[in-house]
Amino acid sequence: MKNKSLVSISDFTKEEYIRILDRAENFAINPNQRLLEGKVVAVLFFEPSTRTRLSFEAAINRLGGRVIGFTDSSSSSVTKGESLRDTILTVSNYADLIVMRHPKEGSARFASEISSVPIINAGDGANQHPTQCLLDLYSIRKTQGTLDNLNISFVGDLKYGRTVHSLSIALTHFNTTYHLVSPNELKLPSAVKMHIKNSKLIYNQYTDFSQAISISDIIYMTRIQKERFSDPIEYEKVKDTYVLKADMLQDIKPNLKVLHPLPRVNEISEDVDNLPQAYYFEQALNGVYVRQALLASILGN
Ligand code: CP
Repeated sequence: MKNKSLVSISDFTKEEYIRILDRAENFAINPNQRLLEGKVVAVLFFEPSTRTRLSFEAAINRLGGRVIGFTDSSSSSVTKGESLRDTILTVSNYADLIVMRHPKEGSARFASEISSVPIINAGDGANQHPTQCLLDLYSIRKTQGTLDNLNISFVGDLKYGRTVHSLSIALTHFNTTYHLVSPNELKLPSAVKMHIKNSKLIYNQYTDFSQAISISDIIYMTRIQKERFSDPIEYEKVKDTYVLKADMLQDIKPNLKVLHPLPRVNEISEDVDNLPQAYYFEQALNGVYVRQALLASILGN
């Protein structure tokens, strides 16, 4: 993984996922290890973020590295008309690695092809979010004791949900049974379903959420993403389709955990937060350890 970019979750093998997760367990026990001493990491966010950016910055700081970058492209020369190409060519002269979030699908791949330093994709439009995928795998393994043979329900915006795309692909290595709960307008893209099918795994599609709850080991809730809709009327039609409430979690498996990449709007009621099944805030914490493991593997001394 040394000096390798991470653009799509398919860039890593199953063995590489497992190595990152094992290494992250070590950072969870001992987070302050100065493995990035003398390294500069640029964090370029062309799209808003709380968890991904701050957990990357926390990870870099805990590893003794330095952070440069911007949190809003309106404070960069992009507002003067500078291209992504020129931005990456410039910043790769200043940093040893670039973490980048951008609204356009394929932008991270493009950046990795022209950059002289590794690129980590922190989300490219509705395409992929591979570091979220690694922390999701870590969270699933931590709560279930295994990644193998699980029933995983994905609920909400499966069409535009980049976290769902990356995680669905990664889980094909682990004999997953998929339960795909979405409005008809927001089904998982055919290319991802084809990937599952080609891996000889089963997926079931539902519009009724209640059908999936009792059979799930993991319920992976997602936000219906207003910013991905070109027509606001289409968003209004589907925005509150699924809301998980505490009283819906009665006939469940004893090991069930509820995950959500966050931010949530109202798809998980706050009365779920204090139940033992709620794991989404710990999931966000795991992002620091997993990103430490990733940075140390790509850039560590
Ligand atoms: N999960 C996630 O990507 O959250 P942010 O948009 O806050 O980074």
